[in-house]
Amino acid sequence: MRTTTTGRAAPPRLLFLIVLISSAAAVAQAAAASPVLAQAALPGCPAKCGEVDVPYPFGIREGCSLNPLFLLECNTTFEPPELLWGNIHIQEISLEKGLARVTLFIGRDCYDQQGEKLNEGNMSTDVTGSPFSISADHNKFVATGCDTLAYYVASAADGYASGCASICRDEDSVTDGTCSGIGCCETAIPRGLQYFEADIRSYHNHTRVWGFNPCSYAFVVDKDRFTFFRANVSANYANKRVKLPAVFDWAIQDSSTTCENGMPRNRSSSACRSDNSGCRPSNDGRGYLCACSPGYQGNPYLSGGCQGIGSSILILLVITSWTYWGLQKRKMIKLKQRFYEQNGGFLLQQQISSHRGATFRIFTIGEIERATNNFDKNYILGHGGHGTVYKGTLDDQRAVAIKKSKMIDESQNREFAKEIFILSQINHRNVVKLLGCCLEVEVPILVYEFISNGTLFHHIHSRTHPCSSPIHVRLRIAAEAAEALSYLHSYASPPIIHGDVKSLNILLDHDYVAKVSDFGASTLVPKDKSQFATIVQVQGTCGYLDPEYLQTCLLTEKSDVYSFGVVLAEFLTGKKAIYSEGSEEERSLALSFVSAVRENKLSHIIDVQLLEQKGITPELRQVAELAMQCLCLKGDERPTMKEVAMVLHGLSMTENHPWVKYNPEERESLLGDPSIYYASDSTGQRSLANHTTLNIETGR
Ligand SMILES: *[C@@H]1O[C@H](CO)[C@@H](O)[C@H](O)[C@H]1NC(C)=O
Ligand SMILES: *[C@@H]1O[C@H](CO)[C@@H](O)[C@H](O)[C@H]1NC(C)=O
Ligand SMILES: *[C@@H]1O[C@H](CO)[C@@H](O)[C@H](O)[C@H]1NC(C)=O
Ligand SMILES: *[C@@H]1O[C@H](CO)[C@@H](O)[C@H](O)[C@H]1NC(C)=O
Ligand SMILES: *[C@@H]1O[C@H](CO)[C@@H](O)[C@H](O)[C@H]1NC(C)=O
Ligand SMILES: *[C@@H]1O[C@H](CO)[C@@H](O)[C@H](O)[C@H]1NC(C)=O
Ligand SMILES: *[C@@H]1O[C@H](CO)[C@@H](O)[C@H](O)[C@H]1NC(C)=O
Repeated sequence: MRTTTTGRAAPPRLLFLIVLISSAAAVAQAAAASPVLAQAALPGCPAKCGEVDVPYPFGIREGCSLNPLFLLECNTTFEPPELLWGNIHIQEISLEKGLARVTLFIGRDCYDQQGEKLNEGNMSTDVTGSPFSISADHNKFVATGCDTLAYYVASAADGYASGCASICRDEDSVTDGTCSGIGCCETAIPRGLQYFEADIRSYHNHTRVWGFNPCSYAFVVDKDRFTFFRANVSANYANKRVKLPAVFDWAIQDSSTTCENGMPRNRSSSACRSDNSGCRPSNDGRGYLCACSPGYQGNPYLSGGCQGIGSSILILLVITSWTYWGLQKRKMIKLKQRFYEQNGGFLLQQQISSHRGATFRIFTIGEIERATNNFDKNYILGHGGHGTVYKGTLDDQRAVAIKKSKMIDESQNREFAKEIFILSQINHRNVVKLLGCCLEVEVPILVYEFISNGTLFHHIHSRTHPCSSPIHVRLRIAAEAAEALSYLHSYASPPIIHGDVKSLNILLDHDYVAKVSDFGASTLVPKDKSQFATIVQVQGTCGYLDPEYLQTCLLTEKSDVYSFGVVLAEFLTGKKAIYSEGSEEERSLALSFVSAVRENKLSHIIDVQLLEQKGITPELRQVAELAMQCLCLKGDERPTMKEVAMVLHGLSMTENHPWVKYNPEERESLLGDPSIYYASDSTGQRSLANHTTLNIETGR
């Protein structure tokens, strides 16, 4: 049965998956799009030269760059087109890192076998007047050769120079991967270098090593992209110009503003045009770079260039969670509908609408949750064998008792709804009114009128109000409860059987009027005997259970009568259905009551309070007799609830009207004779109705 649930829930789940996948795709797209976004050129300007992005502040057309310094050349005569600054080939520009990848010619110094110089050895790179400088962090100065002295002049004006020498006798001493003076030497370069000239010299015009090393080379190269190999020593590029990768820093050099604490001091004149952007010093320290604020991404040099990275992801998250919750909600609604249907909601709805003026209604789960403050623990009135009862306040401020049942057999749910409807139609002053139910949940929730003054159980067993239980009050309450049960046994066919009659289920309102509760709500009355047999778990309460029901599993009206007999015994003795006295083990009130009466020891077991009030009056004996009848082991021998109600009603009337005369002797003799009980127990022929008529007649 449960598997159908999963089956039905599958489509929304699938839908969710699809949404998730498509949103993931959107994320991927956004992620893929963001570098483009970050590299955006000025609107209307070419953003690429061939395959190379040209982000603003750079530009390849006049007016497309921040200033003429940032104007690059895109020479389309090459295939693919080349992005150039002067004769320097730019392969990539990174806005974020403030770097540019370039290629630079290597310097060479080659000789012939006689030691005659073949090529001009000097190599220079001059980017003065450009935003670029040679990155000190990413490059190194390298010279290769076995008769080599190379140095560079950093700037003609400063006269700064540094260099290295590499001498070796034979090729075998040169090792792959190491650049430490044998065949290869290297040195660092200073930051902010814009003019660079390498001077390569030899000690012996390569005459001693010419066989394997005719040339010396010197170059600035990207550290990460250069590894020295022995083969490089013997390479002869005498007739070839070779380029190697190098990295440039670039910076905005601006005399009108400086970058202070991440912000340009004069924003209006700064290159950081976008909102949510700031600045940082450039890598080479010659100027500053702009950057989007944390959480933003894009081109900070363009106005509106920085966009919240979060935003796309956030929007996505919102959409995703919306969808998710939407689906969950839909699922919930479907589930509610399913429960509603399963619980016979439509049937009930029909029945309600066909009974105009019915006070019964169907509550939504929302109303129930509001009424109980979402099933707040503090609102719990009590836990029953069948569920939990909460005190609730409806939207119209009416106090109600809300019963949340434990699981019941799913197959019974439809019957349950019908049953609920029958119960809702019952309008008896001694039955707790069922106001409605909620069917949108797995197990229906019932809403009852709220009865304020506790239960009969508390009334009998709490000793806080000693005078609260005079015999006539007890009798009236008992009579009312019996009337209610009698009414329900005869109201419908098949009869509505309470199944759990006990003092805890008889509530008292503010006038101490008895209200029988929990009617049929917990115990559903099966239609035929085959269904009786399927009751595996016996319901009811220990101490009140009909012994015949325990043996046959047949719940009948007489089961209620037996339980009511126990309630009467409680009335008379003030003891609980299962009680213990002193150190004695627990005893069944029903058993000890029956044996006490049989042994003519009623006074031993009777409530001291009642004894003190009037002693053992004939009425008391009569109630005891009634209880005995109810507690007969055989259901057939028990009186009907109607008979019980009649007797109790009569007794409560006489108790209330003491002028009614009795003949105490006669009664004493009749009730005092234990044989009556034995006779009635053994033969079962004596009916209570006969007794009652007899007694009442005797009384009159
Ligand atoms: C492109 O480069 C070639 C070869 O160096 C040169 O002749 C030509 O003038 C350049 N074109 C432009 C537009 O600068
Ligand atoms: C090579 O560099 C040295 C040192 O800077 C310089 O004296 C020399 O003139 C340069 N040679 C050429 C041909 O430029
Ligand atoms: C190297 O060559 C130069 C001329 O190119 C010459 O003057 C010099 O003597 C040579 N040195 C050696 C050690 O051969
Ligand atoms: C050095 O040798 C390796 C391996 O032969 C080669 O791939 C690389 O291009 C050479 N580098 C230079 C600068 O000649
Ligand atoms: C900020 O820049 C504007 C425009 O370049 C200039 O007029 C102004 O004097 C600058 N302010 C400061 C404090 O440098
Ligand atoms: C029950 O009702 C009586 C009389 O109205 C009142 O005195 C008593 O306090 C009530 N008890 C409870 C528990 O409400
Ligand atoms: C009442 O008792 C009489 C005999 O006294 C008997 O005939 C009659 O059947 C009894 N009534 C019932 C309802 O058992």
